[in-house]
Amino acid sequence: MKIELAPSILASNFAQLGVEANLAIEGGGTVLHVDIMDGHFVPNLTLGPPVVRSLRKVVKVPLDLHLMIENPDQFIPAFAEVGADWISVHQEACQNLDRTLHLISSHGCKPGVVINPATPVETLTEVLDLVHHVLVMSVNPGFGGQHFIPNALRKIQALAWKRKELGLNFAIEIDGGVALDNVAEIVRAGCDWLVAGTSVFHTPDAANAFRELERTARDATLARV
Ligand code: DX5
Ligand code: ZN
Repeated sequence: MKIELAPSILASNFAQLGVEANLAIEGGGTVLHVDIMDGHFVPNLTLGPPVVRSLRKVVKVPLDLHLMIENPDQFIPAFAEVGADWISVHQEACQNLDRTLHLISSHGCKPGVVINPATPVETLTEVLDLVHHVLVMSVNPGFGGQHFIPNALRKIQALAWKRKELGLNFAIEIDGGVALDNVAEIVRAGCDWLVAGTSVFHTPDAANAFRELERTARDATLARV
């Protein structure tokens, strides 16, 4: 599976959102990761459909929306309408996960499911055939700039084995604390898509930081388990 690099705009300067997003894309970002937080499911607030609509106009790559919100069904149609390409929802936030994933597809977006660090991979068994991607949180969601929680590596390996066993082709994505010093082991564990915020945007040259991350990740694909 092709490695996708997803800059997380949460760590960017929101006053220059379009410019910063395109800088990371110039550095090798192939997807833009957009964190949506509601102040309930996670203790932070970010942005809503109007900002996604504006981003859609200036960014060419797919928009990867990560919904960290309660009752995602209520907002999926609005996010699809303003140009989301991929929408992922938290297993922990969905009372009817199967229905929510179908709802995302019915609005023309690719459905993804997300699990928090304390949620076992096994809770996803019954929906793996429905998803375009599984997003493994390697920090507790809500904030950028946190430390990578290593149990995510075991989860990636378990998902990669399960995918093989079931003959499925969902992508495995990781989010939180991804940086130059851990990206190789993340890729070797079997991860396909890498979200990176702080390690890219909080540097003097975001495009270059992203380029280095990309190079390290691609080299590591040669040594996958
Ligand atoms: C956290 C968000 C992440 C965050 C990652 O809840 O889902 O996407 O932006 O940021 P870093 O790379 O700084 O950990
Ligand atoms: Zn995210």
